[in-house]
Amino acid sequence: MIVANRLPVDRVTLPDGSKQWRRSPGGLVSAMEPVMRSNDGAWIGWTGVAGDETEPFVDDGLSLVPVPLSEQEIQEFYEGFSNGTLWPLYHDVVAKPEFHREWWDSYVTVNQRFADRAAEIAAEGATVWIHDYQLQLVPQMLRELRPDLRIGFFLHIPFPPGELFQQLPWRRQILEGLLGADLVGFQLSGAAQNFVRLVRQRVGHKTHRDLVYLPDGRTVLAAAFPISIDTAGFEELARSESVTERAAQIRAALGSPKKVLLGIDRLDYTKGIYPRLRAYSELVKDGHFDVTDSVFVQVATPSRERVEQYRVLRDDIDRLVGRINGDLGRIGQPVIAYLHSAYPRHEMAALYRAADIMVITPYRDGMNLVAKEYVACRYDNDGALVLSEFAGAANELRQAWQINPYDINGMKATILEAAHSDEKDRARRMKAMRKTVTEHDVASWANDFLAELAAVRPTHGKPVRPARLS
Ligand code: G6P
Repeated sequence: MIVANRLPVDRVTLPDGSKQWRRSPGGLVSAMEPVMRSNDGAWIGWTGVAGDETEPFVDDGLSLVPVPLSEQEIQEFYEGFSNGTLWPLYHDVVAKPEFHREWWDSYVTVNQRFADRAAEIAAEGATVWIHDYQLQLVPQMLRELRPDLRIGFFLHIPFPPGELFQQLPWRRQILEGLLGADLVGFQLSGAAQNFVRLVRQRVGHKTHRDLVYLPDGRTVLAAAFPISIDTAGFEELARSESVTERAAQIRAALGSPKKVLLGIDRLDYTKGIYPRLRAYSELVKDGHFDVTDSVFVQVATPSRERVEQYRVLRDDIDRLVGRINGDLGRIGQPVIAYLHSAYPRHEMAALYRAADIMVITPYRDGMNLVAKEYVACRYDNDGALVLSEFAGAANELRQAWQINPYDINGMKATILEAAHSDEKDRARRMKAMRKTVTEHDVASWANDFLAELAAVRPTHGKPVRPARLS
């Protein structure tokens, strides 16, 4: 059973008033959906709409169990504590986190609701896999209700260093909440180490390497499981005739330029969209790219639009794109083709196929699955990936052209290097990265996590490290 804040589908109201289910945004859903399709089980989550009391239902073969959130809970639990406190705090304080006691109270209430629902429907001895920063109290709450369950937790976003985490007034409760799980998974091993160190310092439990020993005799393992994508599925889509045709159409619609650069992100201040567009515009201004034969396509998927920091970001990007195109564009030839919209997988695959250079420049990112999707779609071993060293994916995609998004001149130089690279160099890098995402796809990620969870046993007495499966 999966427990995540969002269901894999969102309920949307069309202009004619009719309602429809649409795929939810973000990396968590794109990763977990294929995993759930190949396993039986239920998915507990929110439908994305205030006060939605929809009964459990089956959508496209998936058993979905909605948990309702009121308008006030959306403001305090979702937009407030999850995305106004935890999200910026866990992403290196790129924006200033706000701490409000009412937001915390709502976080506790909503986490309890998710735990109650999971406890109600989980079969005896079932495996429950809880996801992400919105639900960090659920493991402990669920264990209290159902000690028979095997509980795993995976954090999709970074886990911050102790110096930042300690700002949180409720730091101890969050750590204890996570310790309700048998296995706590992170994207990177540094995050798991941060967690174990904090548990030792703040909660006072005994720890040894990646294990925490609880006073009740349980052992909790904290380890890294870098998430991935449905690599074969993306490649198959990319090879399809309709995606090939669509990619050609996209290039033609852009005026058949020599170079297409591409950015695809949720419109989020962690993604480094602003410095990326500035870097590119300066390259155009300096004459390194010519607006008549190159274009930067930036897709920004609307996200968390009522949260103040996201509104400010949207205005900033709108203004920047307007200024760049106004100053440097020509009739029918913008410097930046900016799309504020969400696209289905098919269109994304066509964009990846159409792009010569993919530019991904987050200030901090748990993984960044777009980077892996681009690689999966480049079965021709062509295309250049420019990737921030602060994305989790940089750990595995070492052959990408890596940049520091805080260093605009460095980023400009690296984008130019990628643009002027020879075919052989690009093929060598892309082949190596394709090997990585082929060998390590989302199915193997889920298998590794679930196998490790199955191997975790409560120990009484002498601590024993559960066998780490390879
Ligand atoms: C990231 C988070 C997910 C979240 C997604 C979309 O991928 O890790 O937990 O669901 O962004 O954000 P949203 O706030 O729209 O659910």
